[in-house]
Amino acid sequence: MKKEILVENIKRLKKEKKAVILAHNYQPDEVQEIADFVGDSLELSRKAAEVKAEIIIFCGVHFMAETAKILGPQKKVIIPSLKARCPMADMVSGDDLRRMKKEYPGRVVVAYVNTTAEVKAETDVCCTSSNAVRVVSSLPDEEIIFVPDRNLADYVSRQTGKKLQVWDGYCPIHEDIRAKHIVKAKKLHPGAEVWAHPECRPEVLNLADRILSTGQMVREAPNSPAGEIIVATEIGILHRLKKENPDKKFFPARKGAVCRDMKRINLKKVQQALLREKPEVIVDEATALRARDSINRMVSFT
Ligand code: 13P
Ligand code: SF4
Repeated sequence: MKKEILVENIKRLKKEKKAVILAHNYQPDEVQEIADFVGDSLELSRKAAEVKAEIIIFCGVHFMAETAKILGPQKKVIIPSLKARCPMADMVSGDDLRRMKKEYPGRVVVAYVNTTAEVKAETDVCCTSSNAVRVVSSLPDEEIIFVPDRNLADYVSRQTGKKLQVWDGYCPIHEDIRAKHIVKAKKLHPGAEVWAHPECRPEVLNLADRILSTGQMVREAPNSPAGEIIVATEIGILHRLKKENPDKKFFPARKGAVCRDMKRINLKKVQQALLREKPEVIVDEATALRARDSINRMVSFT
């Protein structure tokens, strides 16, 4: 089916079904273009909680749709591909975290939002890449369990001076961006600033001028004095950065930084999801009840 027809069908179905389409900054360009709202993990959680729609078509990975469902249990949350999962979120299970809590009794647990609902149910407070430092700083505790991203944990620990018991998880896409890629990109664009996502390795963050979540990159770009920016994160973010800042130049730190899971969703799948109203994201109420507090705490931090 032609792209224009798919887009028309999606618009019509969305209206008929009183649905809203939310998309993460890493979604394919065509999906970002038909979304009602595009944002980072924190912005999407907030949006999901506040939208009045009966149906949310969540174009992102599973943990994000799950978080939306937990925040709005009365809404129907549909993810156009159930295969779109975050490999980092799947690196730590509820059992793993329960074992870790036994090993470090009494420690407060902070979980990155990139976790399953089961892990969030075992957590005191969740965070995203944009508020992790503020969440950890706000805690009176000096020793904290932090799952699952070791790179984000390292960054947070350096920023806050707190000791984190860290799970050895990582994002395979950010992990593959190395210092050598930054050095090469800087040689090609000597006047450019380097902006890196905190899921990157410490060797990359050490070379960065700014460390920002995807939403922060979008907000900061128009105000930045830099005319050229090397972006060390998944390349889907370049679509918005270029579109919203036509006077600036953005270069990927690594062209191959592509999250296959984020790209499992396309226009055809969005149309099908709207038509069939599935696959629906279901979270059992007992788990949701326990996970909701830790997510609500996260959402209360800017
Ligand atoms: P943000 O949406 O917080 O920028 O995080 C990026 C990410 O990897 C989400 O999976
Ligand atoms: Fe997970 Fe990394 Fe993909 Fe984000 S980019 S969804 S952290 S694998």
